[in-house]
Amino acid sequence: MIETIARGLEAARSRTHRLTSFEDGVLTTQHSRLMSPLVWDLAHIGQQEDLWLLRGGNAACQGLLSAKIEGLYDAFEHPRAERPSLPLLTPVESRSFIADVRGRVLDRLDRAEPEAPDGLFPFVMVEQHEQQHVETMLATHQLRDGESLLGPGAPLPAGRVLPADSVLVPGGPFVLGVDGEDEPWSLDNERPAHQVDLPAFRIARVPVTNAEWQLFLDAGGYDEPRWWSERGWAHRVEAGLERPLFWAADGSRRRFGRVEPVPPDEPVQHVSYWEAQAYASWAGARLPTEQEWEKACAWDPVLGRRRRWPWGDEGWTPERANLGGEGLRPAPVGAYPGGASAYGVEQMIGDVWEWTSSELTPWPGFRPMLYADYSAPFFGGDFRVLRGGSWAVGGAAVRPSFRNWDLPVRRQIFTGVRLAWDA
Ligand code: AVJ
Ligand code: FE
Repeated sequence: MIETIARGLEAARSRTHRLTSFEDGVLTTQHSRLMSPLVWDLAHIGQQEDLWLLRGGNAACQGLLSAKIEGLYDAFEHPRAERPSLPLLTPVESRSFIADVRGRVLDRLDRAEPEAPDGLFPFVMVEQHEQQHVETMLATHQLRDGESLLGPGAPLPAGRVLPADSVLVPGGPFVLGVDGEDEPWSLDNERPAHQVDLPAFRIARVPVTNAEWQLFLDAGGYDEPRWWSERGWAHRVEAGLERPLFWAADGSRRRFGRVEPVPPDEPVQHVSYWEAQAYASWAGARLPTEQEWEKACAWDPVLGRRRRWPWGDEGWTPERANLGGEGLRPAPVGAYPGGASAYGVEQMIGDVWEWTSSELTPWPGFRPMLYADYSAPFFGGDFRVLRGGSWAVGGAAVRPSFRNWDLPVRRQIFTGVRLAWDA
């Protein structure tokens, strides 16, 4: 177990290095006001690892950085927009700092007591934190102007032709959320498991594709206030939204510095919650709630229990879902018949984060984890929950119970849409 965790930490670190092994200017420039300079993410990854694994979360205890420098990496103190003007560590200093922390962490891990309650949890929590920042850094690379630094991405499985259909999820109770006994690496907001009774609903077999989104454009969807909520329309006008982010009017898109035709059968990505909602109303549908999403993903109605993954209890393999970031894009719909859930829903894990209509709230009985400000400060804010992970997510950083969240205007993240209907 300890060896598996060490390998997971190493896997996250090698992804970090792949996204930050460039000349200093790439790291110190702020490529978008929405994002940190990459060098901030780089040292923040080490600062959090130092805090949670070398000091047990006790910020009053001196870490490897001086208190003054450490404070620069506090995400609550310094919003992203102001991070480029901070006296941050240089790229060289950042790399040496995170390597120093990691060496000490691996020593601790070797001596860790796996039997102690939650003895290994902090290590995997920190691995997931680094993987989350890897995804954030990929979004930064996507926003960056200029030649591609990442290449075209690895090949992905081909899609297959599917009827544009939906599956029925009959009404009835299921278990929402998980407990530490079953999912030891689940984060605080995924717990505890509890029974929820849902009315019957239908959910789309696969996410909305680029070709389908193009029909919405062709039908004048972005110019028809009736498909949009009041807040959504106000944002559409003010931000001048006309099509998904990174799409051009000529049917091309920019992806990591390359201009290419928009692939018709890929799930659409880079749409905000407001656009997702407008598309759904135009299509005579709605967004799923996160409870519906999780039932369609994880519930096994025959056995009356949850599966650990949509396809069963065995772990992720590249034939089951597009995760891990190598592809640098979503796979076409139909690419993962082996990843279908018990209800026959496909591509719930990986490819694109899926907007749900739910605001981020705690499950009943919520208890904050060691990193107590991971979720709690965001409950009750103007956030919508996203489910399922994208192609960019590391396999250790997503599960059917995993809950991501963001503001409804955000679309630089790898977000797409899955439709739902009342049954
Ligand atoms: C869970 C993706 C919303 O990036 O704001 C990283 C993850 N929290 N460091 C975010 C996170 C602190 C978080 N999301
Ligand atoms: Fe962070």
